[in-house]
Amino acid sequence: MSRRILVTSALPYANGQIHIGHLVEYIQTDIWVRFMRMQGHEVYYVGADDTHGTPVMLRAEKEGLTPKQLIDRVWTEHKRDFDSFNISFDNYYSTDSEENRELSESVYIALKERGLIEARDIEQAYDPVKEMFLPDRFIKGECPKCGAKDQYGDSCEVCGSTYAPTDLLNPYSVVSGATPVRKTSTHYFFKLSDKRCEQFLRQWVSGLAQPEAANKMKEWLGEDGESTLADWDISRDAPYFGFEIPGAPGKYFYVWLDAPVGYYASFKNLCARRGLNFEEWVKPGSTTEQYHFIGKDILYFHTLFWPAMLEFSGHRTPTNVYAHGFLTVDGQKMSKSRGTFITAQSFIDTGLNPEWLRYYIGAKLGNTMEDLDLNLDDFVARVNSDLVGKYVNIASRAAGFLIKRFDGRVSAHAMQAPLLEQVRAAAQQIAVYYEGREFGKALRLVMEQADAINGYVDTVKPWDLAKDPAQAGALHEACSVCLEAFRLLTLYLKPVLPATAQAVEQFLNIAPQTWQDIGRALSADTAISAYKHLMTRVEGKQIEALLAANRDSLQAGAPASDAAAAKGKDKSAKTAETAGTAGTAKAEKTEKTEKAAATTGKTDDGIVTIDDFAKIDLRIARIVDCKAVDGSDKLLQLTLDVGEAQTRNVFSGIKSAYPRPEVLVGKLTVMVANLAPRKMKFGMSEGMVLAASAADEKAEPGIYILEPHNGAKPGMRVK
Ligand code: 2FM
Ligand code: ZN
Repeated sequence: MSRRILVTSALPYANGQIHIGHLVEYIQTDIWVRFMRMQGHEVYYVGADDTHGTPVMLRAEKEGLTPKQLIDRVWTEHKRDFDSFNISFDNYYSTDSEENRELSESVYIALKERGLIEARDIEQAYDPVKEMFLPDRFIKGECPKCGAKDQYGDSCEVCGSTYAPTDLLNPYSVVSGATPVRKTSTHYFFKLSDKRCEQFLRQWVSGLAQPEAANKMKEWLGEDGESTLADWDISRDAPYFGFEIPGAPGKYFYVWLDAPVGYYASFKNLCARRGLNFEEWVKPGSTTEQYHFIGKDILYFHTLFWPAMLEFSGHRTPTNVYAHGFLTVDGQKMSKSRGTFITAQSFIDTGLNPEWLRYYIGAKLGNTMEDLDLNLDDFVARVNSDLVGKYVNIASRAAGFLIKRFDGRVSAHAMQAPLLEQVRAAAQQIAVYYEGREFGKALRLVMEQADAINGYVDTVKPWDLAKDPAQAGALHEACSVCLEAFRLLTLYLKPVLPATAQAVEQFLNIAPQTWQDIGRALSADTAISAYKHLMTRVEGKQIEALLAANRDSLQAGAPASDAAAAKGKDKSAKTAETAGTAGTAKAEKTEKTEKAAATTGKTDDGIVTIDDFAKIDLRIARIVDCKAVDGSDKLLQLTLDVGEAQTRNVFSGIKSAYPRPEVLVGKLTVMVANLAPRKMKFGMSEGMVLAASAADEKAEPGIYILEPHNGAKPGMRVK
């Protein structure tokens, strides 16, 4: 019986690029969606960009854009990436939509009417300079345990200890550099601790498919009757990019309230365009199904807040939530410096076939929350062995003979060969695996069939049969069996390899295949087309190029979230130079000449004396703000704290190396503090920051701001 199914993947934030970590989820969901569609079910797969919140607001400000301009640009990039990887969304929308505003408001009002919203005054960190409340991740300071600087409010990256944001020593706002103060404000809470919520969630959890997820839920829910659930703060104060709360001027829905509602908003938009009855899908007791694919890090939002929001605002609840684990690359966290923070765009731009990644990820996926590893050597070996060596090879071995000798037509009689019956018989178990999200098991079973077919080819040896005209019938049979087997394998692989499957359908001159077509063998009446190569092998050098592209992209512009990875770059710098208002005053010195100058005080030929050097007042400076300069493609404008009463304004020609200037905010660097102020087109520049680059910048581009070791403080002298 045909089922009606709504499927979602988590909505990516609108302030960063899609990377392979994201792709695990979209590929997983897409394989499942495509499989369910092939079963003949009515399936809608919707997504959207998650657009609201403080990071998007600040990022837009730094880029000199309105939030709307930023989210529009990112939407186009995300859509391009999803299309490239053949993620078959029926609708890809935005949470910053009218549908979402209306739905979020109506959910909120319904919860309020049920007595589940409460206003409460809370005290929070506040940036007195920027005049905004600070989310924890916008506060940094010194680790209370080891004293490491520039650590976030929850844990220390240096010693690994965890603590509360209030424990940080010398905390500062990442936004302005100011010391945060405590300030009280009224917030709105969703009363998750309410008995009704507890009772509902205890019952809802029993339907969760993944035991690990159910266990987590039980942990969160605590003992029966003693719920440990805390109320959920669903409001944020202005300035905030989001939806203002009805009846509460200056208060906005926290991004996590309107994000999951964004699933429904995207679907509602689709319903309007397709003439579907939205209400029928979302009303309580709906006979439709609703599944959310997510990463395990956001289970909490999807198994507590979201079902409770739906239940108490008069909606149906999710049929299930499917969480996956995290992706590692070569056994480690994705890393910009190693080039393993691989963006979707770089994968395509480097010329890699997205179907390779779809296959590899699919082969690694099970239905648990276990992490999965993209081992790059294994990736090359597996794609080449399974897809090229086993699968595509079957067609290339059979098609030539069939076209040359048999007019491109299969033998009808061959379609009943025992081997084909065996391959067809695997369909049922493969389907069970796909539906159960056991893609690794499904693909192993498909490859076992491929092994059996290749074994058959090796036994019947078509190339030997072809030498003997008396064996023409046997040759026709063998090639026909191979081609029909190849059709079946293609059908089985279609949820994973949609583009390849389409190319095969053209080559075989058959209609787009569904699961119903297992028994519809190739017809002797239709000739196949000439065989064109269906898939190339992955080359090791392509992987090297991919890693290099992602290492390069660090220099060309790392996303804001990876400021930490932007550190260890100084290895490639060969000489030091200053980059600032006075252009690029090269201070290129070999160790030998520096020593000579220091000991002899020679002044000839570009060598300076120690006294000359001492005239330069080098100071540690904290970059409290850093932004692009309107009208300049070279300069960044830095606000520097040099331990003086007032900050310094410096224009620096480093934009090419830091297209996302916010990565520098909060960092320490070195500046020339006694450089004569210089009036520039964009304003007064009051110093110069030091940066490193190669002697031949054309041959080896890249500019790297200097950063002192831990312990240095703004205002300290560098000598
Ligand atoms: O964790 C994230 O990336 C969120 N943007 C996911 C939101 S999923 C849904 F709730 F919108
Ligand atoms: Zn520490």
